[in-house]
Amino acid sequence: MALKMIHLAYLLIILCRNDGVEAIIGINWGRASAQRIVPSQVVDLLLQNGISAARIYSTQRDIIRAFRGSGIDLTVSSFNTLGLNSVDAAKNWVENKIVPYADTIRNIYVGNNAFSENKDAVFDSVMNIHNALSYFGLSEIKLNIPQPQIMLKENLTRPSDGEFRDEFKEVYDRLFRYLEENNTPLVMEMLPITFINEYNYDLSFGFADNKSTNVITDINGFVYTNVFEFLYDSFVWALKKAGAPNLKIVVGQVGWPTDGYPGANTYTAERFYKTLLPFVMSNKGTPMRPGAPIDIYVHCFQDENRMTYTTPYSRHWGIYRGNGEPKFKIDLSGQGRDIFPTRAKGIMRMPDRWCVFNGLNNNRLGAFEQFEKACNGSDCTGLATGGSCSHLDFVGKVSYAFNMYFQFRFQAENACEFKGMGQVVTTNPSNGSCLFRVDVVEGMQTQFAPSGCKLHEVPKCAILSFLLLTFTALL
Ligand SMILES: *[C@@H]1O[C@H](CO)[C@@H](O)[C@H](O)[C@H]1NC(C)=O
Ligand SMILES: *[C@@H]1O[C@H](CO)[C@@H](O)[C@H](O)[C@H]1NC(C)=O
Ligand SMILES: *[C@@H]1O[C@H](CO)[C@@H](O)[C@H](O)[C@H]1NC(C)=O
Ligand SMILES: *[C@@H]1O[C@H](CO)[C@@H](O)[C@H](O)[C@H]1NC(C)=O
Repeated sequence: MALKMIHLAYLLIILCRNDGVEAIIGINWGRASAQRIVPSQVVDLLLQNGISAARIYSTQRDIIRAFRGSGIDLTVSSFNTLGLNSVDAAKNWVENKIVPYADTIRNIYVGNNAFSENKDAVFDSVMNIHNALSYFGLSEIKLNIPQPQIMLKENLTRPSDGEFRDEFKEVYDRLFRYLEENNTPLVMEMLPITFINEYNYDLSFGFADNKSTNVITDINGFVYTNVFEFLYDSFVWALKKAGAPNLKIVVGQVGWPTDGYPGANTYTAERFYKTLLPFVMSNKGTPMRPGAPIDIYVHCFQDENRMTYTTPYSRHWGIYRGNGEPKFKIDLSGQGRDIFPTRAKGIMRMPDRWCVFNGLNNNRLGAFEQFEKACNGSDCTGLATGGSCSHLDFVGKVSYAFNMYFQFRFQAENACEFKGMGQVVTTNPSNGSCLFRVDVVEGMQTQFAPSGCKLHEVPKCAILSFLLLTFTALL
C-alpha cells in the first residue's frame, strides 16, 4: 500500500511538473495538405509520443474537440487580425470560438508576423480580445503575437547585435508591457536553415552537436557553435535593449525541412533534432540565460503540400508524411534515443498505383505543358534545386509531376490522362531518395478544412520559378 502511494506521488509529480521549471517540447500542426490525417488520430499520435503541448493554425471546432480531455496544452490561432477591431466583434469571436472550449484552449496566437500588416490596428484587436476574455472570465487563457526572427535588424554578426527593427519600437514597447503585466512569455519563431543560407554560414552551424566550422565569439566572450543558441540569445539581447530584459521566451516555431532546399533532407533533419531536443530538455539554457528552461514547439507535425510558398521547402517541414509515416528518427521526449516516432495506426492507404509519363511522344513542348498543368494542380517542390527529385531527367520529372497530380486526386482514372501522355503503373517508380508517393484514401479527411502552418519567409527569396529553371535547359 505504501509503495503504491509512493508511485502515485511520483505520477503526480510528473503530471504537475508543467510549472515553468522544466522545458516543454510541443509541436505545431497545420493542415494545408491534400491528404490529412483525422484529428483524433493525430491527438493519439501526439500522446503516444509524449507531446504535452500543441499549436494549431485555426479555431476549428472539430479539431479543438479532438484535444478535449487529452491533457495536451492547446494553442489556437487567429489570422483575422484586423477583423476584431471593434469591442463587439472581439466579444462575438471569443464567445463563439473560445468560450465553448475554454477547458481545452491555453493560448491564443494572433496573426502571422502580424506587426508587418498594420501594427497599431493589430495591437488594438489584441486588446479587444484581451478585454473580451476578461469579460467572459477567461483571463487564464494567454494571448500572444508571435515574433519571427526577421523582426530583428539585419546584418546580425553576433547575438549582441540583436535589436528589434526601429519601425516597430513603439508597438514593441506596448507588447512587452502587456506580456509582462500578464505574466506571458514572448513567442519567437525561428527558421534556422533560412538564417544559415541568408548569412552564408556553413550548414554545420545548423546543428547543436558542437561540430560547427563556424564558431562565433561575442563581445562578452560567449561562444556560439549553433544557430539555435545564436538566434535565441540575439532575441535576449534585443529584449534587453528594448527594456524588457526579464521577459521569458518561448520558441514557438523551430524545425528543419526535409526537401525542396539545399541541405534539407531527412538526414539533416534527424541530426538537427537529435541534438536540439536533448539540449532543450537538459535545461542547460543558453550563454545569455544559463539554466533557464526553454520551451520549444517543433515545426511541424506533417508535410503540407498545399501550402502557398515563396520557397519550395515550405511544404516539407513535417516529421510525418501526409500518410502518417514518420520521415526520420526523432525522440520527441527529448531523451535523444535512436527511435522513430510512433506510426499512425488505422490509416488506410490507396492501392499501389502510380501515374507516369509514357514518354512515347517527341513533343517536348506538349509534355512540358502537361507537366506545368500537373504541377500547378499538385506539388512539385521535390524537383526544386536541392530537392529529393531534382536529379531526375526530363521523363522522370514529368512522371513525378503526373503522379503528384494523380495522388492529389485520390487516383481518379481521369487524373492520369494528360492528353494521352499519362499511364497508370503498379510498379513503384521511386528513384533513390526520390519517392513517388501513394497517399491515404479520400475518406480520411474530407470534412476537415485546411488551415496551414504559416511561415515567415525571407522576402529576398521572392518567388522561385524553379520549374522553368529546371526545364529551360532540357527543352
Ligand atoms: C547590411 O549590410 C549590407 C551589405 O553590407 C548593407 O548594404 C546594408 O545597408 C546593411 N543593412 C543595415 C541595416 O545596416
Ligand atoms: C565543443 O568543441 C570544442 C572544440 O572541439 C571544445 O573545446 C568544447 O569543450 C566543446 N564544447 C562542448 C560543450 O562539448
Ligand atoms: C493553375 O491552377 C489554377 C487553379 O486551379 C488556375 O486558376 C490557373 O489558371 C492555373 N494556371 C495555369 C498556368 O495553368
Ligand atoms: C533514376 O533517375 C535517373 C535520372 O532520371 C535515370 O537515369 C535512372 O534510370 C533512374 N533509375 C531508376 C531505377 O529508375
